Amino acid sequence: MSTSLVTLTRLRAVQRRLRALIEPLDDDGYRLQFHPDLSPLGWHLGHCTFIENHWLRTVVLGDDRLTRPLHDYYTPERSPKPRRGPQLPDKARLLEEVSRQQDDNVLLLSGMAEALPAHPLLEDEYLERFLIQHHCQHYETMLMVLNQRMLAGPAGAFRPETRLFSDPAPVANTHIPGGDFGVGGEPPQALDNELPAHRVQLSAFELSTRPVTNAQYLHFMERGGYRDPALWDAPGRAWLAGHPVQAPDHWRQDEEGAWYGIDENGPHDLDPGAPVHGLSRHEARAYACFAGARLPHEHEWEAACRLGLMQDSGHVWEWCDNAFYPYRGFRASPYDAYSRPWFDGRHFTLRGGSRHTRRDVRRCSFRNFHTPDKKYVFAGIRLAW
Ligand code: AVJ
Ligand code: FE
Repeated sequence: MSTSLVTLTRLRAVQRRLRALIEPLDDDGYRLQFHPDLSPLGWHLGHCTFIENHWLRTVVLGDDRLTRPLHDYYTPERSPKPRRGPQLPDKARLLEEVSRQQDDNVLLLSGMAEALPAHPLLEDEYLERFLIQHHCQHYETMLMVLNQRMLAGPAGAFRPETRLFSDPAPVANTHIPGGDFGVGGEPPQALDNELPAHRVQLSAFELSTRPVTNAQYLHFMERGGYRDPALWDAPGRAWLAGHPVQAPDHWRQDEEGAWYGIDENGPHDLDPGAPVHGLSRHEARAYACFAGARLPHEHEWEAACRLGLMQDSGHVWEWCDNAFYPYRGFRASPYDAYSRPWFDGRHFTLRGGSRHTRRDVRRCSFRNFHTPDKKYVFAGIRLAW
């Protein structure tokens, strides 16, 4: 068994990207938690390497010498978040171990070191594809951490060059006739929650051709969207009561009240026509109510994506109307806890991808999922009627 050069190169590329996020950090940046829900950056790199070692060495080769001592620390359910930072090894040591182990894993997969035994997980490069996609998702989470780190830093005296003005114009829509549509992914690239592919019946609906923009969202804010209880459902009102900041997560105001944004590189002007992000699903729903619309069901989203009707997609994740749930005939893979625990009615689907989503996980069938309170996931709004 050996892995194709294309797949090895993709794995190599994401491994290198993960390390490159860690290399420039000082010890605080490497070790600290910048948001209660987000692990330290160093832990993410160690976790990704642990996951490679777990599947390749422990499961495929039956050798758990590397993983046994680290099992609890790198298994999210067994590792309390506040303890993750203090228990990290020095950055230089972790980077050195990670580089060596990643090199060894690529060599192992190439079949040039020793022959890998035939294993069902290695058929059609399923495991390699899973590892690449797993790492890509952690890469994006690490960008969330880098954004939160910048947001937690000292507030500078940034002045935007051009002020963001609100835009009252409604979004443009496209009509999608009802019918029978195919949804779901194809093995071996699809993750367990995208399977099995199946057909769904959809009634005719309207979908906005672009996500809601910064300027349109500012219009909602200026029209008192956050203060009008009629726009918020009961969970939204409860959430709002505990979240006094009434703007996208990364928006800040200068002394004159002009809005600007902060990302992993620091402060910047907000582009009026760019899709807004930094919104919880509660805010997305309130905006939709304000616009006389609703959020799309994930199957409507996927049908429109397959029809090529999405403009400006892939800059922000798009919150969907429905909770994350198993397709009929779902089978957990490669492990039970990858998707199943999150079919709990508390997680909602997001579709699309942000500017930090890597190509390996960009597709019409990919299903992301988060609880509706999350503002740091680079998510915005597309409307449906
Ligand atoms: C699907 C992005 C919510 O990052 O928690 C990573 C993906 N699962 N390691 C997450 C995942 C296990 C997951 N998300
Ligand atoms: Fe993970």
